[in-house]
Amino acid sequence: MADLSVKICGVDFKNPIIPASGVFGYGREYEELFPLNKLGGIATKGTTLHLRTGNPAPRIAETPSGMLNSVGLQNPGIDHFISSELPYLLTKDLVVLANIAGSTVEECVEVAEKLESTDVHMIELNISCPNVKQGGAAFGTRCDMAAEVTRQVRKVTSKPLVVKLSPNVTSITEIAKAVEAEGADAVSLINTLLGMRIDINTRRPVLRNNVGGMSGPAVFPIAVRMVWQTANAVKIPIIGMGGVSSGKDAIELMMAGASAVQVGAAIFTDPFAPVKIIDEMNDILDSKGISSVGEIIGSVQPW
Ligand SMILES: Cc1cc2nc3c(=O)[nH]c(=O)nc-3n(C[C@H](O)[C@H](O)[C@H](O)COP(=O)(O)O)c2cc1C
Repeated sequence: MADLSVKICGVDFKNPIIPASGVFGYGREYEELFPLNKLGGIATKGTTLHLRTGNPAPRIAETPSGMLNSVGLQNPGIDHFISSELPYLLTKDLVVLANIAGSTVEECVEVAEKLESTDVHMIELNISCPNVKQGGAAFGTRCDMAAEVTRQVRKVTSKPLVVKLSPNVTSITEIAKAVEAEGADAVSLINTLLGMRIDINTRRPVLRNNVGGMSGPAVFPIAVRMVWQTANAVKIPIIGMGGVSSGKDAIELMMAGASAVQVGAAIFTDPFAPVKIIDEMNDILDSKGISSVGEIIGSVQPW
């Protein structure tokens, strides 16, 4: 048995596998399938200040080797999360990353402030949402906005702050450096890539929101490239994700520079994917005589 444990920002994970935000709810439904404590951690559904009902349906569509979603941050709001979801998760032996979001810097700050008095282990700040005060451009698509929201959230939280980056940018490394400079303890990437499909019979987009976020196996090479570029640009740890569906994928993303790996869309095709990935990683490391997963982080040998 290889040692799968990793430490990120001083937080111990028993293994590096974490269901990604938005595909695992708060874990309750999955606990019926396997004990949650098999997981290294859980990134909870993106939580905003107030309840959101999300976008109108249809808001999910299949694509070759992937999916599009425009769920639109449907969630019960931070007060419900703190009173009714977080206490349950904190009884489990795993790291809880509270994924938070907002339409303004002030909203993100207020959500983070509310978490300060809880025992949540880490905050994952999703900066892919539109900033309504900047014409709806996503915070994570401009260095100045990414820096500003990180700076203001940093001021109100003593929790390890993981800033989750958007891949819909020209230079992922410039954004990563901007949030590192403002006190992010780690970055996670990638969020979904903006996509669109059209029904040729109705000439309507398949998503009611017209556009949506693309994820799943088709985006994996983009995730590997962005994690690798980011690992070469910042000193803080990286939590990688995007299209991971096997233990081999997880090891590849760690070789690119990720210290831990989140699993998203793969959970929709196989709800047991995270636990299978943990077992597969262990088998691969054993077969290669690697005693600790830490040895592979950033171990790619570029040409
Ligand atoms: C249905 C769905 C809902 C999502 N909701 C969130 C969310 O609330 N917050 C967030 O930061 N990312 C959200 N994501 C993005 C995922 O966490 C992940 O970054 C992305 O899907 C790439 O990983 P994957 O290819 O393994 O799915 C969502 C993704 C999907 C498919």
